[in-house]
Amino acid sequence: MVASTSSSAPLITVFGSTGTQGGSVIDHLISSDKPYRIRAVTRDPSKASGKKLQEMGCEVVKAEISNKDDVKRVINGSNIVFGVTNFWEHGAETEIAHGKNMIEAVKANLSTIKTFVWSGVENVSKVSGGKYTKVEHFDTKGKLTELARTEGLPVINVSAAMYMENFLGMMAQEDGSFVLALPIKPSCSLHLLHTRRDYGAYVVGALESGKVKEGKGEVLACAEVITVEDVAKQWGEVNNVNCSFYQAPVEQFQAQAGEDLTQMFQWFQDFGYYGGKDVKPSQEVLSPNAKVQKWRDFVKESDWSEVLNGSG
Ligand SMILES: NC(=O)c1ccc[n+]([C@@H]2O[C@H](COP(=O)([O-])OP(=O)(O)OC[C@H]3O[C@@H](n4cnc5c(N)ncnc54)[C@H](OP(=O)(O)O)[C@@H]3O)[C@@H](O)[C@H]2O)c1
Repeated sequence: MVASTSSSAPLITVFGSTGTQGGSVIDHLISSDKPYRIRAVTRDPSKASGKKLQEMGCEVVKAEISNKDDVKRVINGSNIVFGVTNFWEHGAETEIAHGKNMIEAVKANLSTIKTFVWSGVENVSKVSGGKYTKVEHFDTKGKLTELARTEGLPVINVSAAMYMENFLGMMAQEDGSFVLALPIKPSCSLHLLHTRRDYGAYVVGALESGKVKEGKGEVLACAEVITVEDVAKQWGEVNNVNCSFYQAPVEQFQAQAGEDLTQMFQWFQDFGYYGGKDVKPSQEVLSPNAKVQKWRDFVKESDWSEVLNGSG
């Protein structure tokens, strides 16, 4: 299946098209029953992932999100925009600047743009009432969601849960047995999503279900809420090895992982990933054909050989 080229199909500009979230959005747009023209944004259309998007029928365009003119150019004429920013590559200040560039460009194009799908997470400093002020990679996105709303944009925040893919780098082998070590209680719930596979299902659901209104609309893209103890247990069961959860002392974890991630886990424990919001209503936007993946099946289908062979 390929993207539509019909001029009657809505045009959606997808930032982060070569990445995890944007890639998932494009896959699900293409497999939707509804036609979409897709403009895929990357800094380098000539790389393999850019060429693959071209083969999928996307109009692949070069843009640097730091450059306001680039952002305006690639948004021009769109009916829908998908926006995601990358904290880990650029840091907080640049992430905010990138988000502002998108918001400004969407605002200047409201004559054609009917929906701005934005990938935000909670403003932890604010929602925790100042208890956790170091979770920068959440705060930035939460502030940008608020800005998009106060600017009056037709925004829908499709908020990605914690990626299941993160665990590919978290499981470790120690003395012949396997351990998942995090600075939270075993009973702490995690909100999980196989993001590359399923994030786009929530985005398409937000666009097509008729259940989400632009403005304050929000979809919590979370396939499963599961205790961290069960994350370790199921991983061991599927791989037929012993795997236990270890509650790492906060100081010990912070010395390795830094303040941002340490406070993020404390936030999960005290407030929950989404600050206590119920994820169930968001499942209703999914099309009946969308079977999002649970943790156990993600473990079954993923390649853990590096961890299992002790080289991970
Ligand atoms: N890990 C988690 O559990 C989790 C959960 C929720 C949210 N998040 C957030 O997800 C975000 C990352 O999204 P992702 O996983 O989809 O990222 P990703 O797979 O690393 O892909 C990043 C995408 O952003 C594009 N990009 C980056 N800088 C750009 C620039 N200056 N100009 C134009 N395009 C640029 C890249 O395009 P090119 O390289 O092709 O130009 C690429 O398509 C992070 O901010 C993270 O905080 C993560």
